Amino acid sequence: MRITIVGTGFVGQTTAMRLLERGIGEIVLIDIIEGLPQGLALDLRQSSPIVGFEPTVIGTNDYADTAGSDVVVITAGFPRQPGMSRMDLLDKNAGIVRSVVEQVVPGSPDAVIIVVTNPLDEMTYLAAETSGFPKERVMGMAGVLDSARLRYFIAEELGVSPLEVEAMTLGSHGESMVPLPRHATVKGRPLTELVDEATLERLYQRTRDAGAEIVSLLKKGSAFYAPSAAVAKMVEAIVRNTEELMPVCAWTTGQYGIHDVYVGVPVRLSRSGVAEIVELELNPDELAALRAAAEGIRAKCADLAKL
Ligand code: NAI
Ligand code: 2OP
Repeated sequence: MRITIVGTGFVGQTTAMRLLERGIGEIVLIDIIEGLPQGLALDLRQSSPIVGFEPTVIGTNDYADTAGSDVVVITAGFPRQPGMSRMDLLDKNAGIVRSVVEQVVPGSPDAVIIVVTNPLDEMTYLAAETSGFPKERVMGMAGVLDSARLRYFIAEELGVSPLEVEAMTLGSHGESMVPLPRHATVKGRPLTELVDEATLERLYQRTRDAGAEIVSLLKKGSAFYAPSAAVAKMVEAIVRNTEELMPVCAWTTGQYGIHDVYVGVPVRLSRSGVAEIVELELNPDELAALRAAAEGIRAKCADLAKL
């Protein structure tokens, strides 16, 4: 399968490395900076004899080279700087995402698009509208990352391996992230039996702020190791048609009582994109939080139309 990564900054290039090293697809890197994707692709190919993978990666500045892609990952755009919210990127990144989608879609009319550029939920909507694709073929990456951060913070708090922690966040990639305490487990035991309410709230707030915490440490740019791991996980599920359950920014058509808006929900990913939105049993508070997140995103998407 052919995977195009648009934007070969930190997230794009680390995603390419993760996919290549796991033998997932034939990768095309594209960026507006001349030489950057070509140089990165050459460097990646030269690592293949050491790591042991097929050097199936090229770099280009020409969309003709991306034709026939099965998956397109969009990471083009500005990252946050200290003090900025994801929403501060809306105006600048909207222009970039729109132009990327207009250029990539004609050559790859059957692709599944994964948006990564922030603000995530709004950029996913914009990409879907611009592409004209069926909505199940356009999605955004945020929930896999936010859930991984939460799992890590829980593991750190309890001194266990992150692999023994299951947890999921829904809603938006931002303040209205919706953690699901009743669905979180540690070594199979409910999280709510292991930590008190105040600890839970502290872990959730740290997860909501996790992106900003890294931005303030890096001082220039934002996180990319965990984000690229999350993107690679989604690409793998699509390419290998696993139908694995994961939280994804997807188009709702009545699930959880939410209609016609992109928001983070649990989905099954397959070759055709979002194969199914899974309706977990949520309590009234969780449901209300998810619906509020969806309405917040809907309002921001309406602002986009005015740009
Ligand atoms: P970066 O600055 O390292 O890379 C961005 C790349 O996009 C640059 O190489 C730039 O030349 C390229 N670019 C800009 N305009 C372009 C265009 N019109 N066509 C093609 N390429 C173009 O940024 P980084 O760290 O890779 O982040 C990329 C985006 O992903 C940011 O908007 C960031 O906020 C977002 N992000 C989202 C996450 C999520 O959970 N959804 C997680 C991490 C980052
Ligand atoms: C993050 O959460 C910047 O959205 C990006 O790290």
